[in-house]
Amino acid sequence: MRRKLIAGNWKMHGCQELCKGLLLDILKEMPKDDSIDWLVCPPDPYLLFCAQLLDGSPIKCGAQNVSEYIEPGAFTGEVSASMLKDVDCAFTIVGHSERRTLFFETNEQVARKSLAAFKAGVMPIVCVGETLAEREAGLTLNVVKEQLEVLLALEDNCPEFSRAVIAYEPVWAIGTGQSATADQVQFVHHAIRSLIAEKNTRAAQEMRIIYGGSVKPSNAAELLKLPDVDGALIGGASLQAEQFTEIGKLCSN
Ligand code: PGA
Repeated sequence: MRRKLIAGNWKMHGCQELCKGLLLDILKEMPKDDSIDWLVCPPDPYLLFCAQLLDGSPIKCGAQNVSEYIEPGAFTGEVSASMLKDVDCAFTIVGHSERRTLFFETNEQVARKSLAAFKAGVMPIVCVGETLAEREAGLTLNVVKEQLEVLLALEDNCPEFSRAVIAYEPVWAIGTGQSATADQVQFVHHAIRSLIAEKNTRAAQEMRIIYGGSVKPSNAAELLKLPDVDGALIGGASLQAEQFTEIGKLCSN
């Protein structure tokens, strides 16, 4: 049985005051049962602060990005996976579409970043998803398959492979207010699970595939009950404690 994961991607938002206020509100408003997993991904400078605030709580901290370089060295501006581990990060997002588009991250870099994360014991949340032009050209599954292949290639080297998370985030649904429909989401999630199964059937059963792209309380119930949807990666709505916890409540029932 896969536990649902409700993850907040705060992107480049916040300050210490906002982090503290938001986390205290989330802790107050979240359901008290422990049937699902909770994660917040603040900007790097606030990771330690947030991890300390969340110590002993059911919410884990994750990063939004990680360096592909593993060993310490002359890599100005980079943050290694072992540094993330050192400040109690359980997960790191890898290959978010904003990083692919704005910072030209390639599938190969996404693979190296995922490997670096695995090696440090930080689980990668690998984002995949097509642009609107790719969907309209009927290329959704080709794109997702290509993005996924780099991760699947790591399976032989990573004993914790099935603890990674895949986030299906259609680029056209991110931050637009227009989420993919339940049929579109289930279709792609099922295809992703089948692709994993071709490599490793046990991992396909265990690995969580979460959906991201304009998830909010009004559409979460329908999306989170789909058989191959194991949670959500939430941007905008994760900055509002009430909306974030409401989405979690919808899947803990
Ligand atoms: P959104 O962002 O919920 O604001 O669409 C999702 C994401 O980018 O992870």
